[in-house]
Amino acid sequence: MKEKTLVLLKPDALNRRLVGEIISRFEKKGLKIVAMKMLWMSREMAEKHYEVHRGKGFYESLLDYITSAPIIAMVLEGDRAIEVVRRMMGKTNGVEAEPGTIRGDYSLSVQNNLVHGSDSAESAEREIKLFFAPEEIMEYRLVDEIWI
Ligand code: RTP
Ligand code: MG
Repeated sequence: MKEKTLVLLKPDALNRRLVGEIISRFEKKGLKIVAMKMLWMSREMAEKHYEVHRGKGFYESLLDYITSAPIIAMVLEGDRAIEVVRRMMGKTNGVEAEPGTIRGDYSLSVQNNLVHGSDSAESAEREIKLFFAPEEIMEYRLVDEIWI
């Protein structure tokens, strides 16, 4: 089942020069990049993106963090891409995330955990729309891609 998911490389990914490393993992897994941009999230955009967390203890700190530096936003496509990306990210808290996952290998923080991935089909649809206009999402075929 081919799915699209929104992935963000958060400010700490840029600060720690881990952008290439993280994108490389997704590419090597076989996920296809169908949209990508660098942007600096406004407070308003961050509030929309993280609206489910409004009112939680970490909400204000989360908004400060996600707007503290530019981010990379991507749409990745592949078979069950939403759950594949979530597994590759690991648990939210880098302390608990399994080795071999992005957070497990590179984060020791519950907030500064490098990467965001949509957590459901509904979230993916909503989040992709927040970051990308329809014409920014590419429909193309990789040279070695087999269409079933
Ligand atoms: P994400 O939404 O970024 O993909 O991460 P997630 O699903 O694993 O985690 P979620 O519960 O949705 O939380 C969103 C982001 O908020 C920060 N956070 N801080 N201080 C805290 O207790 C705390 N809890 C969460 C993290 O940056 C987390 O990714
Ligand atoms: Mg989440």
